[in-house]
Amino acid sequence: MRVPVELRRSYKLLNHGPTTLIASAHGDRVNVMAAAWVMPLDFEPPKLVAVISSETYTRQLVEASGELTVNVPTAAMAELTMVVGRVSGRDEDKIAKHGIRTAPATQVRAPLIEGCAAWLECRVLPEAEISKRYDLFVLEVLAAWADDEVFVNGSWQFTRAEHRTIHHLSAGHFLVIGDLLRAAR
Ligand SMILES: Cc1cc2nc3c(=O)[nH]c(=O)nc-3n(C[C@H](O)[C@H](O)[C@H](O)COP(=O)(O)O)c2cc1C
Repeated sequence: MRVPVELRRSYKLLNHGPTTLIASAHGDRVNVMAAAWVMPLDFEPPKLVAVISSETYTRQLVEASGELTVNVPTAAMAELTMVVGRVSGRDEDKIAKHGIRTAPATQVRAPLIEGCAAWLECRVLPEAEISKRYDLFVLEVLAAWADDEVFVNGSWQFTRAEHRTIHHLSAGHFLVIGDLLRAAR
């Protein structure tokens, strides 16, 4: 079940380095793409950064709307992650074509992608120069959610293999994230 995550703890949803799905919406267009280069930037107010190439349709929708959602797919969604990372929303409606289930977000018009392990609703902070020069977007997290089966009391607790999140290496190869290693403090 999707449950809210306190904003000051929302960095934990990305700290373990998962590949993400960025969903965007503007006018009557809704789109989703894979994004591996997404990371936390600050605790409070929570911020993150995402690389969104100028060649993507997502970039167009994000610049027009000033909003997006960052969704954290599970190992069961690896194939889908590759599909939405290889095809452009300019060429097809990926959400309709691949039967991607979405739910409304609370703070932004971009949807939440169902089946994910975590979700962050974000607004674009006005850093046009950085975006233009580096394709880098600075985002403020407005709302955060996690699947309470895998994110329990503020910690990831991966039990079932298909619920683990995925770290992209290259060319469709992922590492499945999830074994806890406790280092002495
Ligand atoms: C696993 C994976 C990770 C990716 N990570 C990023 C990324 O961090 N930033 C980016 O701009 N594109 C990334 N891409 C490429 C976009 O997902 C791809 O260009 C996509 O087709 C863009 O879709 P759109 O044109 O509908 O926005 C990635 C692709 C894959 C398969």
